[in-house]
Amino acid sequence: MAIVRARASCLCDGIDQTQLRAAALAARLVAGDVVCLCGQLGAGKTYFTKGLVRGLGGDADDVTSPTFVLMQVYEARLTVSHFDAYRLTSSAQMLDIGSDETFAGDGVSVVEWADRVPEALPDERYEVRLAVRGPTQRFLEITGRGRRQADAVAFLVSQGLFQPTDPVL
Ligand SMILES: Nc1ncnc2c1ncn2[C@@H]1O[C@H](COP(=O)(O)OP(=O)(O)OP(=O)(O)O)[C@@H](O)[C@H]1O
Ligand SMILES: [Mg+2]
Repeated sequence: MAIVRARASCLCDGIDQTQLRAAALAARLVAGDVVCLCGQLGAGKTYFTKGLVRGLGGDADDVTSPTFVLMQVYEARLTVSHFDAYRLTSSAQMLDIGSDETFAGDGVSVVEWADRVPEALPDERYEVRLAVRGPTQRFLEITGRGRRQADAVAFLVSQGLFQPTDPVL
């Protein structure tokens, strides 16, 4: 059966607006959730993660791109495991560092450059794509894949934080 999906988007002017969206998503996260972040260098994936960690009651200052260590862990309402797949060249490398075990754990996971490791990602997940639209403008598109995730995206739309966009084929 096809997975349930909902997609929405918004334009964020300034890091505060991006982090506000991330914190709103954080409020809906439960143990085992995986948030995949895609977008070019400097698109705002790490700033989105800072907002998410702050939204979970953690310290955003702890959050940096774990490019060299591949994963960092932050304590918050739910423990956040923050992956950076930038230096990985295959999904197998992501599995080798234990992503499956982490995804199945009782925290939440964030994956920067998730599009580099597509086969290591769970079917049910959030996907956030960030695109540069100007010096302080970023276009965000969020897809909830799975019933609960799709409901969360609908909630973010109901809060006026995102506008619904066409369903994914
Ligand atoms: N609306 C915005 N949202 C997020 N970042 C913004 C925004 N406007 C400007 N920026 C700037 O864009 C940069 C985003 O950096 P960030 O480290 O989050 O990118 P990244 O996608 O994680 O890059 P990398 O792939 O190198 O890890 C920062 O310098 C930030 O100040
Ligand atoms: Mg980053």
